[in-house]
Amino acid sequence: MIVLGLESSCDETAAAVVTAEGEILSNVVLSQVEEHAPFGGVVPEIAARAHVTQMDRLVAQAMKQAGLEFSDLDGVAATAGPGLIGGVLVGLMTAKSISAVTGAPLIGVNHLEGHALTVRMTDKIAFPYVLLLVSGGHSQILVVEGVGQFRRLGTTIDDAVGEAFDKTAKLMGLGFPGGPAVEKYAAKGDENRFSLPRPMKGKPGCDFSFSGLKTAVRQCLESLGNDVTEQDKCDLAASFQKAAIESLLSRTGQALKIVRSDHPDCQNVVIAGGVAANMALRKNLDALVQEHDFNLVVPPPALCTDNGAMIAWAGIERLQLGLTDTLDMSAKARWPLDPDAEPAPFAGYKA
Ligand code: KG4
Ligand code: ZN
Repeated sequence: MIVLGLESSCDETAAAVVTAEGEILSNVVLSQVEEHAPFGGVVPEIAARAHVTQMDRLVAQAMKQAGLEFSDLDGVAATAGPGLIGGVLVGLMTAKSISAVTGAPLIGVNHLEGHALTVRMTDKIAFPYVLLLVSGGHSQILVVEGVGQFRRLGTTIDDAVGEAFDKTAKLMGLGFPGGPAVEKYAAKGDENRFSLPRPMKGKPGCDFSFSGLKTAVRQCLESLGNDVTEQDKCDLAASFQKAAIESLLSRTGQALKIVRSDHPDCQNVVIAGGVAANMALRKNLDALVQEHDFNLVVPPPALCTDNGAMIAWAGIERLQLGLTDTLDMSAKARWPLDPDAEPAPFAGYKA
């Protein structure tokens, strides 16, 4: 079984071909970072236009690298939401066209399910497992119980953690995307110099919040006046990173206690999303997960961030269960994985 997967819900245009054995025959990702960098964040209209310009070329490239014709495909999968709707439409319409012409079934994939199932392609792990999804678009803790079966334990009530990294970098003029720059500065800084809040730490439940931490970083920087030195920036980056990680760990710890009693068969904790590239987070999370008697599984970084292979793989899992879609399927800006979870009204599509 061979599926083409398309991704265009944020600032990566991506196409990949994957087999049912989990073999990635091609995986082409085009980042729009340079186009958004002058604005310090993703501009939806610029993203949508770039997806329109690039998608056909990337599909052709992915098919060529895989050495296949469209007639070889058993399915065509695309992110159908959640995300920036202009971009989502580009990938979904492209997949519909290929499906209409070739007759291969269409599979509209929830982008978050793509992240959630990747580890079954890379590490062949069984359901259920815990997923900590941390990126510029999402901050969620879920129990992945099966294909299309999720229990959301926590989500952000405002910003995603990656946004807080990006904003911190922007305030200090470190460039976009901010996460890697903040991590680099933090390595040379004093994490105890500035006292920043640990949002939600010690509160009941497993939800996240990062907008207060963002504001605290801005106020801290303002209090330093006009003569901010490189060392000040390093210290602030380190203090921010420590606060963000402590907040993530406290919420994850709460979730693991719940999972230990509700899902005694659950052994694995998976981390995904761009922020999973942060080495300080990984190290601290690994220690926490072991303390709670779980095992941490980290897919390769290139498959943790947005890509087409994760969408193709989710397409394969759904196709194997006969879960295909029709050509009148709509793109969805919001699409929570767990429809029974409480809505988080200030988080938009991030919840
Ligand atoms: O998953 P991703 O590539 O795209 C989505 O947002 O869906 O994640 C990008 C986010 C950005 O906010 C970026 O700053 C953050 O991941 N990021 C990091 C690191 N590398 C990327 N955050 C912290 N530390 C890093 N090393
Ligand atoms: Zn994503």
